[in-house]
Amino acid sequence: MSKTIIISNRLPVQLQISDGGLTAIPSVGGLATGMKSVHSGGESLWIGWSGLTEEDTPPALEKDIDKALKEHGCAKVNLTAKEIEGFYFGFSNRTVWPLFHYFMEYTEFELDFWDVYKAVNQKFADAIIEKSDENDTIWVHDYQLMLVPQMVREKRPNTSIGFFLHIPFPSYEIFRTLPWREEVLQGLLGSDLIGFHTYDYERHFLSSVRRLLGLDVSFNDVYLDHRVIKVDSFPMGIDYKKFRDAALLHGKNIHEKRSDLQVKLDDHKASAPDTKLILSIDRLDYSKGIAKRINAFEYFLNKYPEYKEKVRLIILAVPSRSNVPQYQLLKKEIDELVGRINGELSTVNWTPIWYFYRSLPFENLIDLYTSSDIAWLTPLRDGMNLVAKEYIATRIDKTGVLILSEMAGSAYEMNEALLINPNNFEQQADTLKAAITMPKEEQMARNMFLQNRLERYNVEVWANEFMHALNKKSEGDDDAFVS
Ligand code: ADP
Ligand code: G6P
Repeated sequence: MSKTIIISNRLPVQLQISDGGLTAIPSVGGLATGMKSVHSGGESLWIGWSGLTEEDTPPALEKDIDKALKEHGCAKVNLTAKEIEGFYFGFSNRTVWPLFHYFMEYTEFELDFWDVYKAVNQKFADAIIEKSDENDTIWVHDYQLMLVPQMVREKRPNTSIGFFLHIPFPSYEIFRTLPWREEVLQGLLGSDLIGFHTYDYERHFLSSVRRLLGLDVSFNDVYLDHRVIKVDSFPMGIDYKKFRDAALLHGKNIHEKRSDLQVKLDDHKASAPDTKLILSIDRLDYSKGIAKRINAFEYFLNKYPEYKEKVRLIILAVPSRSNVPQYQLLKKEIDELVGRINGELSTVNWTPIWYFYRSLPFENLIDLYTSSDIAWLTPLRDGMNLVAKEYIATRIDKTGVLILSEMAGSAYEMNEALLINPNNFEQQADTLKAAITMPKEEQMARNMFLQNRLERYNVEVWANEFMHALNKKSEGDDDAFVS
């Protein structure tokens, strides 16, 4: 029987060795959380990196590792510490990530990184060939593996290959600065179907294909040799039911099984019932605009001092890519900013910012989503931003205000949110005030539309639409692509 092979750098679980034993912890990030729901529902094998380097893995544990991953429907690609350095911390996160998020000043063009990226992509392609049959469908994910489709195509000319990019595809003017731009495009064009979150990313990609490779492009078809490659946008949804059910259960458990965090949130509400909680949740990443958001919060408190002691900003930042220098600098910047602002503005009864730098269990995310009056998400660039969707899904009584950056892919589908430009402090201060004072009826009216849309276009529908388009393509039925 044919199956679907999902392939990404990050598996849905990361393995850690502690006290000689293995633990599997859930991965953070949109790709892992989104695809996990798709993977658990069907017949698929997910291939990726386990989170352990070869050097960290005692040979005696190899079998246990394979077994632990198998329980999650996964299989591993072994990577050495040197490969992780050049491929993951290097080309993926010091070249492609900053470039595709328009941070040219952070982008490093290092030939050594590129060489390791190619070698590791080949390792992933080899793992696919080893673990799949000709009839299987291959679904490759994200910017760490952009060469894999072409590498698989060389060995399996007739296999159905899809690729989905979870981050923005930048404009031609940015993309063309990459020294290995043609190779990256050719790598992607090994696919039958290439998907993006938004129409703009799709358009940028097609423009680069046309201008850099000189290929014929008609609507969303690319003609290469004797093949037609389809390019389309598929905005990723969330597992709506999972968040909704968790929020419903949370409401029922409120008096019996409260977490320590929920107790703290409830104490806060009881002692200061008029204070509004403003929530932001992100990986600690410069693309998320966390430092700017903190500055904008200070600007807001100076512009509208009547809200001092009446609002509190909760920042949950998940540690991410901490070997990359820019992430270390950002961590330092945020620590200092939070320290300074809390130092200057706190009173006996009030700390303006609660800052958590850690990954939290799912239950605690639900505590935060359901207890916060406002979610304030200000990425400077973001492929999609699923946190915005998750916040809305958990609002059982439909109250709550979402303030969302226009630069997030999700803003295209979330027009009823209060959309802001994260560089405009004046606008953000006024929007915060509007959110704090928004009547409940208006909050509910806006969220009703948002929730209906999220429920309809959930992650399962997203995956089905992608797979349907890929299957149609393999069957030679081009009607699937008339959009
Ligand atoms: P990105 O993919 O860039 O990290 P997204 O907002 O699209 O951004 O996805 C982040 C995902 O990670 C969400 O599904 C969210 O629930 C999850 N997540 C974010 N913060 C935490 C945290 N502190 N602990 C656990 N999961 C988290
Ligand atoms: C984003 C990327 C994913 C990545 C995730 C977490 O969502 O699109 O590919 O897995 O961030 O980042 P990490 O570097 O920890 O895998």
